[in-house]
Amino acid sequence: MSSDSHAAARALLAWWGEAGVDLEDARAVVRAAPQLASVPASRPARTTPAPPAHAAPAKRAAPEPLDAARDAAAAAATIPELRAAVEAFNGCGLKAVARSTVFGDGIENSDVLLIGEGPGREEDEQGKPFVGRSGQLLDRMLGAIGLSRRANLFISNVVFWRPPGNRPATQGELAACLPFVDRLITLSQPKLLILAGGVAAQTVLRRSDGVTKLRGRRLSAGLEELTNPINAIVILHPAYLLRQPQQKRLAWADLLALETWLEELGIAREQRL
Ligand code: URA
Repeated sequence: MSSDSHAAARALLAWWGEAGVDLEDARAVVRAAPQLASVPASRPARTTPAPPAHAAPAKRAAPEPLDAARDAAAAAATIPELRAAVEAFNGCGLKAVARSTVFGDGIENSDVLLIGEGPGREEDEQGKPFVGRSGQLLDRMLGAIGLSRRANLFISNVVFWRPPGNRPATQGELAACLPFVDRLITLSQPKLLILAGGVAAQTVLRRSDGVTKLRGRRLSAGLEELTNPINAIVILHPAYLLRQPQQKRLAWADLLALETWLEELGIAREQRL
C-alpha cells in the first residue's frame, strides 16, 4: 500500500469509526497490508520461463506460494505433520490478519471427512472449525444421522484462516490452501467426503456448478495421488440455512440421502438418542 493510499484508508477508518462501524477487522487489514502475499489465482503447471540468452545468472528465487504450498503439503506424511505444515505456511495473505490457524477438529482418519468454507469470528478466536452458530447447527444436523466429531468425523475448511469481516476468500487465497486440503483428503482417505456449501464443493471438485445443482447427489473427487476417486456429497451450508430457514426441508432430504449412503458404505455411526 502506498503512503497516500494508507493515509486515505486511515481517514476512511476514522470516518467509519465516527459512524459507529465495528473496526476491528478493517484496522487489522490496514496494519497487515504491506505484508500481504499475493498469490495468483491458478497456475496450470510448474513451468519456469527460460531466461533471455543475455541474462545474468539468476539468484535462487524463493519458491512461489503455490509451489511452497505443494511442496510443504506433499512432505507431510501424517495429519499431525500436515497440521504443522499449515501452521508454518506463510503463503496465504489471510494468515497476516487472522488470530489463529484453524486446521481441523475431530477424529483424524475417520471414515467421514467434512470440508466447509472457512473460519468465522468464533472459529478464529477458538482455533477450531464450526464452533459458532452455524457450527452448532451443523453438529445437530450431523448428530441426527449418527455423525459427530467426538466419534467418527473430522472437520476442516478450504481456507485455514478467517477472511477479514467474513468476506468470501479470493481465488488466490483458495488456491494457496488447496494443496493442503487435497493432502488432507489423500491422507484421510475417507469413505465419504461431505462438502458443506458451494465454495467448498467448487474448490474441492474443481467444478463451477452452483450448490443447488450439486447438493444431495452421489459425486466423486478425483485426486492425483489416489488411484480411486473418493465418494463425495454436497450439502447446503448451515450458515445459509440460518439465513434461509425455509430451505431446511432440502437440507433434510440431503441428510436422508447421506444417511442411506453411509449405511451402504458400512460406516459406523453413533446411536441416536
Ligand atoms: N463456516 C465454515 O464454513 N467453516 C467454519 O469453520 C465455520 C463456519
